[in-house]
Amino acid sequence: MLSDKVKRHFNAAVQAEWARLDANEYFRLIFRLHLAFIEDELAEKPRVLDAGSGPGRYALEFAKRGCAVTLCDISDGELALAQEKFSENNIAAEGFVCADLRDLSAFPDESFGLTVCYGAPLSYITEKREKAVAELIRVTRRGGTVAVSVNSTWGILRNLLGKTDEDFFANGDYWHINEVIETGDCPSFENVKFGGSTAPEKHFFQPDELAALLTNSGLSGVELGAAPCLCSGSRTQYNKIAENAAAKAQIEALELKCYKDKNMLGFGDFLLAKGVRK
Ligand SMILES: C[S@@+](CC[C@H](N)C(=O)[O-])C[C@H]1O[C@@H](n2cnc3c(N)ncnc32)[C@H](O)[C@@H]1O
Repeated sequence: MLSDKVKRHFNAAVQAEWARLDANEYFRLIFRLHLAFIEDELAEKPRVLDAGSGPGRYALEFAKRGCAVTLCDISDGELALAQEKFSENNIAAEGFVCADLRDLSAFPDESFGLTVCYGAPLSYITEKREKAVAELIRVTRRGGTVAVSVNSTWGILRNLLGKTDEDFFANGDYWHINEVIETGDCPSFENVKFGGSTAPEKHFFQPDELAALLTNSGLSGVELGAAPCLCSGSRTQYNKIAENAAAKAQIEALELKCYKDKNMLGFGDFLLAKGVRK
């Protein structure tokens, strides 16, 4: 089953996943933009489900802001590390639940004020994705918010440009570049490794597609964002420029001005979306 493959992949990439969002200034910017996107919701200190939590970088931040947090992931390895990180920080979580997002029957209807599914779990769900979105909405209370981030079709190309990935652009057929642009679907590649494990199949999204998925599933007032937006494709340059604190602050202010601009949404590495349960 594909979900077994995803579980195996993330169980083998636990430490790499923990390191990722603090690897350099570029990833720290991605982290801050994801938080900025739900700043208003977090200020209300809702009960939060971090769905597809991985090792819990976002969940820890939600808990530090006074939210009661439950973590849920298909990877028991990721959850075990999350538990360690919560203990190290002397922070309690309401639960660490191993489950597939397509079956959140561990949680009653309307359990959470805010359901977050960040870092592209939905991109790894290549079958019955609508069921996962329906479950995220079901466990969120009416009037509560569901926020997700997924990988972006044009964003991944800018990302690879930013990594100066010559091999990728020289071998478009091998990498299925046109197929991914047309369908969003990307196969698994044996030689693409993360944390020592072969990356599984993925789906890359266009902004309209993600908005339609959430709206058709029953969320209202869907808003989109991109993380990073301005700096996407300029990872090396940003990491260099951000050594200067004033320049870093200026770029971050510009990011915050543009990351929800509808003309730029498709360019970010991550596409953000949130909406309210009716
Ligand atoms: C790239 S990680 C992101 C982790 C974390 N949310 C973050 O942003 O740092 C994606 C996570 O989604 C989880 N995931 C993927 N498919 C899933 C599914 N069907 N059900 C539950 N979790 C899933 C993976 O196990 C992994 O921990």
